Amino acid sequence: MEILDGKKAAQAIRDVLKIDVAQRVNEGKKIPHLAAILVGNNGASETYVAAKVKACEETGFKSTLIRFEGDTSESALLEKIDELNLDPDIDGILVQLPLPKHIDDKKVINAIAPSKDVDGFHPVSVGKMVEGLPTFVPATPYGIMLLLQHYKIDTKGKHAVVIGRSNIVGRPISILLSGNSNPGNCTVTICHSHTVNLKEICLQADIIVAAIGIPEFVKADMVKEGAVVIDVGITRVEDATRKSGFRLKGDVDFTGVSLKSSFITPVPGGVGPMTIAALMKNTFLACATKN
Ligand code: GUN
Repeated sequence: MEILDGKKAAQAIRDVLKIDVAQRVNEGKKIPHLAAILVGNNGASETYVAAKVKACEETGFKSTLIRFEGDTSESALLEKIDELNLDPDIDGILVQLPLPKHIDDKKVINAIAPSKDVDGFHPVSVGKMVEGLPTFVPATPYGIMLLLQHYKIDTKGKHAVVIGRSNIVGRPISILLSGNSNPGNCTVTICHSHTVNLKEICLQADIIVAAIGIPEFVKADMVKEGAVVIDVGITRVEDATRKSGFRLKGDVDFTGVSLKSSFITPVPGGVGPMTIAALMKNTFLACATKN
């Protein structure tokens, strides 16, 4: 069993970006600039956005964190997005999800200019991705593809089983893995809460992508010997022994499953860091295509 070390792979990607940005600086070109919007005080979102802003700093990007109170109106948020859309110094805009219930996240996503949609959630970006056209690919599935690429995992003709059908992970990773690309060319099955015989389907998988948000859902008896297991879960579970009061758990029972898998991602240190590296790549691309 080999660990798919997302921390290491992400660092390698960020090191390359750092050099690319330094070269842009030398050539007097524009530095990539990410605007991140955070609404409210969701603990996990705070952590993710802080990590994204820190990654920008470390890579030599500019970043602007825009905070709104949890009771901010939808129109105030849309107004800010309009302003960022028109600001030539801003290359990428991300609005951290989930948003408070009174705000329609679809309306917010649709308001972002597709040319600045570094999260790849705008319908224009999604449509291009489905067609296999160049576009911003959502950070988590893009990060998974980059991780498979980094470790030269052979995916061609393999059966990939994706557990979860979210717009952020399950659906886009299914599209990417089934695409005529490398990594890709998989036969993909998407499973969800209404799937019958989930265990039997998982047992047929050469590659499992677990993205359901239920800690340790995937057990060893659901995994074929030699399968590649990608764990997208990051649920906070109480842990009084930790200073933070919690620890992170994936969707995969790592102890049991790692005895059967050929490759497996840890949590933390697997998909998480790759997501940030993918966002950085998208932000660089947004800047480089326009400047
Ligand atoms: N919430 C969970 N994942 C993501 C992501 O990739 N982007 C944004 N904006 N919010 C998220």
